[in-house]
Amino acid sequence: MSIIAARKDSSAAAQAAEKTRTAGPAGSAGDPDGTTTAQPASADRPATRGQVDITNVRKSFGATEVLKGVSLSVPPGGVAVIVGPSGSGKSTLLRTINHLEKVDGGYITIDGELVGYEVRGNKLHELREKDILKQRTHIGMVFQSFNLFPHLTALENVIEAPIVAQKRSKAEARKRGLELLDRVGLKDRAGAYPRQLSGGQQQRVAIARALALDPKILLFDEPTSALDPELVNEVLDVIRELAKSGTTLIVVTHEMGFARDVADTVVFMDQGQIVESGTPQEIFANPREERTRSFFSKVIEPAFNI
Ligand SMILES: Nc1ncnc2c1ncn2[C@@H]1O[C@H](COP(=O)(O)OP(=O)(O)O)[C@@H](O)[C@H]1O
Ligand SMILES: [Mg+2]
Repeated sequence: MSIIAARKDSSAAAQAAEKTRTAGPAGSAGDPDGTTTAQPASADRPATRGQVDITNVRKSFGATEVLKGVSLSVPPGGVAVIVGPSGSGKSTLLRTINHLEKVDGGYITIDGELVGYEVRGNKLHELREKDILKQRTHIGMVFQSFNLFPHLTALENVIEAPIVAQKRSKAEARKRGLELLDRVGLKDRAGAYPRQLSGGQQQRVAIARALALDPKILLFDEPTSALDPELVNEVLDVIRELAKSGTTLIVVTHEMGFARDVADTVVFMDQGQIVESGTPQEIFANPREERTRSFFSKVIEPAFNI
């Protein structure tokens, strides 16, 4: 087990975790330290779990610091869409949220519980692998490349984790798996192998698989970037539907129309930092920062309506 020794912020982490725990879901907004706070979930999708608080997270690869103190809060049921140029640290940030990357500074909590670490003796210690895996079952992740098991059918891909990780009965997992495949429009393809499915269908199976563990939050890293253009919308439509369902979503995408329609909060990242964030209206129509304006002038078509 590696120990994060002498972390200056470790007692603050404990206090923050405690504060969030006692304050409940509504209690963490508006820190005076520059934390970006996403908009609350809209009233038509009340949610009570899935509060994400990222506090001053730093991460380096070798000598290169790729996250330079990132703070972001997303309330239960909130939908945050992260945009920004390639290499700005978007994937690394997502990967810290389910502890696929360790952090070098700062901390992340989900519903007040530290991700990947525990506080002992005023220091953060990395959790044991077993506990990391357990935490990760609360966090669904969908990648650009669908990562389905090629030798398993669509349904088998969806029910594998519930049976193995959650020890659910096969009958129960199958029933729930078919419901989830139905939800992503693929009930009739339950017996198909990934090679027999289009990219869009494979990605929808991957989304059903991520939902199968009933996660508190779902992370999407460019879920449509590997798809042919005509298949993008069928995947975005599924994510749109999820956005209304009360699951907290954090989505990295280059699909600006989707961001405009679905996000409570758009977060613009550049060079390892959140440059600014706000409602789609604020960020697309009225960005405060020149870097944001310059990025959108390159990626948004002139006909884009805000
Ligand atoms: N495992 C790694 N080892 C070394 N450098 C990495 C690693 N992962 C990402 N990077 C670097 O970190 C920076 C941010 O990458 P990434 O988070 O993938 O950005 P984005 O998703 O915004 O394109 C890039 O410069 C990238 O080359
Ligand atoms: Mg990326």
